[in-house]
Order: sequence, then structure tokens, then C-alpha cells
Amino acid sequence: MTAVSAATIDDLRQMARSRLPRAVFDFIDGAADDELTLRWNRTDFDRIAWRPRVLVDVAARESSTTILGARAALPLIVAPTGLAALAWAKADTALAGSATGAGVPFTISTSSSVRMEAIREAAPDARLWFQAYAYKDRELTRSLIARARVIGCEALVLTVDVPMLGRRLRDLYNRFTVPLRPTPRLLWDMLRCPRWTGQILLHGVPRMQNFVDGKHDASVASLAALMTSNLDPALTWDRIGRVRDEWGGKLVLKGILHPEDAERAVRIGVDALAVSNHGGRQLDAATSTIRALPPIVATVGRRAEIYLDGGIRRGSDIAKACALGAKAAMIGRAGLYGVAAAGRAGSDRALRILAEELDRCLALVGCPSASQLDPNWVDLRD
Ligand SMILES: Cc1cc2nc3c(=O)[nH]c(=O)nc-3n(C[C@H](O)[C@H](O)[C@H](O)COP(=O)(O)O)c2cc1C
Repeated sequence: MTAVSAATIDDLRQMARSRLPRAVFDFIDGAADDELTLRWNRTDFDRIAWRPRVLVDVAARESSTTILGARAALPLIVAPTGLAALAWAKADTALAGSATGAGVPFTISTSSSVRMEAIREAAPDARLWFQAYAYKDRELTRSLIARARVIGCEALVLTVDVPMLGRRLRDLYNRFTVPLRPTPRLLWDMLRCPRWTGQILLHGVPRMQNFVDGKHDASVASLAALMTSNLDPALTWDRIGRVRDEWGGKLVLKGILHPEDAERAVRIGVDALAVSNHGGRQLDAATSTIRALPPIVATVGRRAEIYLDGGIRRGSDIAKACALGAKAAMIGRAGLYGVAAAGRAGSDRALRILAEELDRCLALVGCPSASQLDPNWVDLRD
């Protein structure tokens, strides 16, 4: 099978698994501790059944919506993923290109492995968003978001569920580090995965390019250490207000799971919030996002847009999130599996699969427009 003939996101995942060294695949695929949240993000989608309507004219279907006031062809946003070049050289530009082709926003990770300015250069028409953390070093945060403004990012996505890094056991057991440590297993895998190894030899080991500023040591290890040592476990709500003022544009808070935090975010004046548990990579046993969504929607109402990420592997998952009140879904791993399988062709395919599945789902549930979906369409199974 080639990426272009992949029928599902899971097909792309299997292709990614065979193309990547085990430690790299596990870094993308894995999650924190017992990976309960990773599983629940999926199984809780599977507990939602459709209550389809029949004899509805679904000859013309509409998946498009507005996201932060601008038209998007799908209720979808590509989520930020750091060090994506581990999956494929310049994966960030491939994903930005695919997102633009699909008519949806792309979020640049603060830890992207292509510099944000280079992503803009490669994707001049992209709807770019920039994801940041409110770092201990306020000057570092200020300079990153100032650069995001210069390249025309239309929203700042502030990730708030990382007071410290979660512990990912697959990474620990694989001895996965940044930069990659040459364990016997990795060396064996590099021989087994010549296409991946060839890219690394050609393009170098991925580094967090946004931190290369001439002031700090630019080695791969130092940049990774700079990022992690700057995470702020003392971060609280008042700083969010200050970052909002410094940014001055549209603000999305990513990593909300509790309705009281959603309320607080809305009071601070965020434009949107992303119901997210970081794909299960931070707090294990955190509630699945599709379960967290309805009470947050009930609290926030129309005061801010609500997005959901975690476990989106089917177009029908996007439709389920919309039915339960999300304005759009975000994808992390689905895009990464695609790009890891075959670069830009693979990420194009991932987005195409999701768009086609969403369209077919709308027809079969008897809803001509994704924005008309509501809780009436779904049934929560025990
Ligand atoms: C390899 C990888 C790297 C990630 N890097 C970041 C990041 O730099 N910043 C961030 O806010 N979220 C990051 N995330 C989390 C995603 O933005 C998103 O919340 C999550 O992947 C959604 O779950 P899904 O992968 O099941 O779609 C990362 C996720 C993965 C899989």
C-alpha cells in the first residue's frame, strides 16, 4: 500500500510504524504513564453512537464553517507538534502546506523543527497560528510572540497543561532523548529504516529551530534544555492576562478540561479554548476530551469558540465533536502519521481521508451541514 492509497488514518499509522525507528514512532504514538488517557480519548469516541435521520435531502453537503471569524473548508485545525522533523524532514512545512490545501489553519509549535519564518516563507498563503508557553524567561516569550506577529500569525495558542513534562514510559524504556542517543537498538533500527536514516544524514538531527537566536548555544541538546528548563510550574492566571495584552491579537487557551477553568478563561477574554489533554502525553488518567466537552460547552455557551483535540482518527470523530458543541476539532497524531508515512503526500492524504469521511458521515446521518449538528444526533452508550 502507498500513502496515496491509504484508506484510513490507521493505515497511515501502520506505514509510519514501519518507516520509523521504534524510538521515534513511540515518541509520536506514545503517551504518559499507563496511557489510560490516550486510550480513553479513543474509546470514549467509540461510545458515541449516531441517531441518524432519514429522508433528508443530503445531495449537497457543506463541511465548511468559520474559525475565529474566517472561513475554513472543514471544522478542523492542525494542532502544534514539536520536533515533527523526527517524522520527516521539514514535516512542519509539509503539514502547513497540507493544511492550506485543505483550507484549514495550521498551528506552528514553539518547538517546531523548522523556524517559524521559514514556514511562512514556504506557505505564504497559510492561515498560521503560533503555539507558545508562558515561559519563566518573559523576554523569551515576548520575543517568540513578537516574531509570530511579524510573520502574520492570526492567533496565539497558549498551551497551559505543561507545568512540567509528563513522563512517557515508552521514551524512557527506549532511552529516547533529544538528540537521539545511539543505543544498539537505534543503530539497528537506522539500518532497518534506510529512508529515514538517509533524511537524517542529509538534513541533520532535528532541533528546536525557533530558539536559535545567536544568544544561546544552538546545539540540539542545549535548545531542548532551554525549552524544558523554561517551563514554569508557578504559572497562574494573572500571567495569562499579561500575555494576552502583550500579544494583542486573537488568543486560544489550549489544555482546558474543567468547566470552571473554561469560565475563568472566558472572563480573561480568550477568543477560543481548546479542550485538550495534550493527546494523553501530560497527565495520565486525565478525562478524555470528548467527555470533558459537554459541560464546558454548557458553561461557555457562545462567549468563546471551543475546539477539541485528542483521539481524532476519523472524519466521524470530527462530526461527533461538532455534535457535542465543538466549533472545530484539532489533529495532532493523524497528521504526523501521514507525514511520517510519505511526507507531504502523506499529510495531504491524512487530511483528504478525514474530509471524505466527514462528508460521508454527514450524508449518512442525514445532516446536510456540519454546523447544523447538535446533541440530538448522538447517543452516549454506557
Ligand atoms: C509528537 C507530538 C508533539 C506534540 N507537541 C506539542 C507542542 O509542541 N505543543 C503543544 O501544545 N502540543 C503538542 N502536542 C499535543 C498536540 O498539539 C495535541 O494536543 C494532541 O496531539 C492531540 O491528540 P491526538 O494526537 O490524538 O490528535 C504534541 C503531540 C504529539 C503527538
